[in-house]
Amino acid sequence: MKRVFSGVQPTGNIHIGNYLGALKQFVELQEENECIYCIVDMHSITVPQDPKELRKNTLDVAALYLAVGVDPSKSIVFVQSDVPGHSELSWVLTCNSYTGELSRMTQFKDKSKGKESAPTGLFTYPILMAADILLYDTDIVPVGNDQKQHIELCRDIAIRINNKYKKTFVVPDGRFLKAGARIMALDDPEKKMSKSAENIHSRISLLDEPSKIKKSIMRATTDSEGSIRFDPENKPGITNLLNIYSVFSGKDISEIEKDYDGRGYGDFKKDLVEVTVDALTPIKERFNEIRNSEELIKTLKDGAERAGVIAERTMKRVKDNFGLGI
Ligand code: TYM
Repeated sequence: MKRVFSGVQPTGNIHIGNYLGALKQFVELQEENECIYCIVDMHSITVPQDPKELRKNTLDVAALYLAVGVDPSKSIVFVQSDVPGHSELSWVLTCNSYTGELSRMTQFKDKSKGKESAPTGLFTYPILMAADILLYDTDIVPVGNDQKQHIELCRDIAIRINNKYKKTFVVPDGRFLKAGARIMALDDPEKKMSKSAENIHSRISLLDEPSKIKKSIMRATTDSEGSIRFDPENKPGITNLLNIYSVFSGKDISEIEKDYDGRGYGDFKKDLVEVTVDALTPIKERFNEIRNSEELIKTLKDGAERAGVIAERTMKRVKDNFGLGI
């Protein structure tokens, strides 16, 4: 049995990119693995947050985990800041990483572009992420393609420490989906779908109303060629919509291409609205049932306790191997 760990930031607007890149995999993996799923609230404070809003978003993401099918009787679900080992290990890893490698992270470069100075937390974000993963002796990390570079850095740090000290960490592997690993913005398929983009029609959030989903899909950017074909180079818009269609319908891209051979974008988009609404409606219904329940809080408290036991064991090993404490 392998250990799986992943996390999502509680920043609101959890969208179908997050779902397809991460949450959907969480559910698949829990059948045959020991899974730990975290709401990474300490990552969220790398940018300013309203405290009330942050706590609301934390509970929203926790309820979404359960609504998409994460089962607390199989998986551990908890909030990052409830287990102190994350920040503790983060410091140890900070002392074994380099400003050069952190400066090369594209996410940091994007977020700090054009600024003379950026928040330190944004710079060290990937180290806290590495701490999350290494704290649980993780074998597999299911994430979207946009996290590849962070996973690579995590592996580099783990290998570096294992070589320098006693073998301390399990070196994890990322798990990325082939099709749909990166869902692009509907209004600009050259950019990834993001929680923070200003245009709400650039994304489909998991809790969007059907009318909003329809509007966003019908106005999604395509091209003037008129054929429904998977071609990321020349047809990024249609390719992105095909990816979304495929994951929500369970059909292969080639099958969808055949179904829509000779048909127009309007038809295809209309059907995609239906496929998407059908997939998201039950998630939204379950979310509404769970969100204000006692059960949710109980699940998170219980999760933090179980995660804490594993985290403490790892921290003891880390401290022993580094000669920290008495
Ligand atoms: P976050 O909250 O930004 O994203 C959560 C997950 O969604 C994936 N994702 C996407 N997948 C496909 N298409 C997109 N457009 C898209 N946008 C986001 C992300 O890859 C991610 O899997 N740094 C992480 C959070 C984190 C974490 C961890 C993950 C913190 N510690 C430890 C795994 C293990 C992040 O980007 O979250």
